[in-house]
Amino acid sequence: MLPYRIKVVEPIQLLPAPVREKKINEAGLNVFRLKSQDVYIDLLTDSGTSAMSTLQWSKIMLGDESYAGSESFFRLQNSVQEIFGLPFILPTHQGRAAEHLLDMALIKPGMLVPGNIHFDTTRAHIELAKGRTFDVTFEEGHSSTGDNPFKGNLDCKALEACIEKAGVEKIAYVLITITCNSNGGQPVSMENIAAVSKICRHHKIKLFFDAARFAENAFFIQQREKDFQKKPIPEIVQRMFSYVDGCTMSAKKDALVPMGGFLALRDESLFESLKTLGVLYEGFYTYGGLSGMDMEAMAQGLKEVIDENYIHYSVGQVQRLGEKLKKAGVPTVTPFGGHGIFIDGRRFYPNIPENQFPAQLVCVELYKNGGVRSVEAGACMAGRNPDTGANIRPTMDLCRMAIPRRAYTHEHLDYVADAVIETFEKGKTKKTGLLMTEEPSTGIRHFSAGFKYA
Ligand code: F0G
Repeated sequence: MLPYRIKVVEPIQLLPAPVREKKINEAGLNVFRLKSQDVYIDLLTDSGTSAMSTLQWSKIMLGDESYAGSESFFRLQNSVQEIFGLPFILPTHQGRAAEHLLDMALIKPGMLVPGNIHFDTTRAHIELAKGRTFDVTFEEGHSSTGDNPFKGNLDCKALEACIEKAGVEKIAYVLITITCNSNGGQPVSMENIAAVSKICRHHKIKLFFDAARFAENAFFIQQREKDFQKKPIPEIVQRMFSYVDGCTMSAKKDALVPMGGFLALRDESLFESLKTLGVLYEGFYTYGGLSGMDMEAMAQGLKEVIDENYIHYSVGQVQRLGEKLKKAGVPTVTPFGGHGIFIDGRRFYPNIPENQFPAQLVCVELYKNGGVRSVEAGACMAGRNPDTGANIRPTMDLCRMAIPRRAYTHEHLDYVADAVIETFEKGKTKKTGLLMTEEPSTGIRHFSAGFKYA
């Protein structure tokens, strides 16, 4: 059931195929370098691309732009306290800013942050603070096939082994990303969250969520975990957060806003030290890089995202697209995740060598065939090992089609399905992929890399 109607529309256009081909060539075969107006359906990201509600827009008028003690901050704080049960909140301009502050406060050189596949900015900030990530995703989480309902889960034995080997004092904190973006928006079960929390409490190690898609994770717990099938989403969220010491949040996802983020914490002394850092990098602690308007929209968005009708429709749209592709034999990560469908590049183009960026080629061909923009989450995005400089070989080479929340209808997504299926049929015999011709020397390379056909 579609739980809203459309009041404001934004025109989009489909450029003719030869123009699309020219545009993507000019963009160095990298969809990040395309102009948005040259894209028909934009599935580059679900981040900051949601449609806001009438209530969010109306709350924006209440934005209190006072430098200190803004009313909007207190309304945001109330929302966060009510929904997550965490007492202290520090707004930040987006999720990575929350990561930056947390990592500066908790990581000393050489420390580890174990977790399920860390998002790229998360990893980059941990490394910037001279720490290292340690992947403890359980084995099936690294496979694109199978039907395990909680592929975001952490392997508790691997976590215990990591703590034992490194020593408790070398663990900065443990991070659970809900849902796990990097392997397909895969959820983490309540049972696993509880088990990880028990290990952390036993060793007195702090446990945080990267909560960007917390509501989608709660939805999957409700749908797939036996003890939670009759529980309302808000209650599941409360329970999830009862196991952690806090979270970083990119509000651009499950808070339904174009911009924003925050840190929410249980420990007052950590909050006090982060406040000082926040003032330096983000702004005074009652606005943290955001306007009062942003905080109002976020406070309201957090309430809407845990609405049962909203979340059923939103995740349902993703599942529906996945089913259509599955029926046509398109290889995708299964089960389908919460925020997008992830195509398995290596199975999509089985004859293309792995080091010729098959998933990146899926993105390029999908744009050429249908004006649909997706994003690579594979060999290009994985980057290089910071210690050896060698290319990292990710276990999966994926092309992600992220679905902006409340922005597209079934009709748009049916068009996408047709474009993907056409690209798949046309590409079955392709034998060569792409070579990277431009690579930034530092940082996250997939935003600006350039390619040529092999
Ligand atoms: N954590 C996760 C799991 C994310 O997916 C992202 C962003 C961040 C942290 C950083 O948040 O963008 O607000 O600074 N993901 C976007 C994406 C960019 O397209 O998946 P941010």
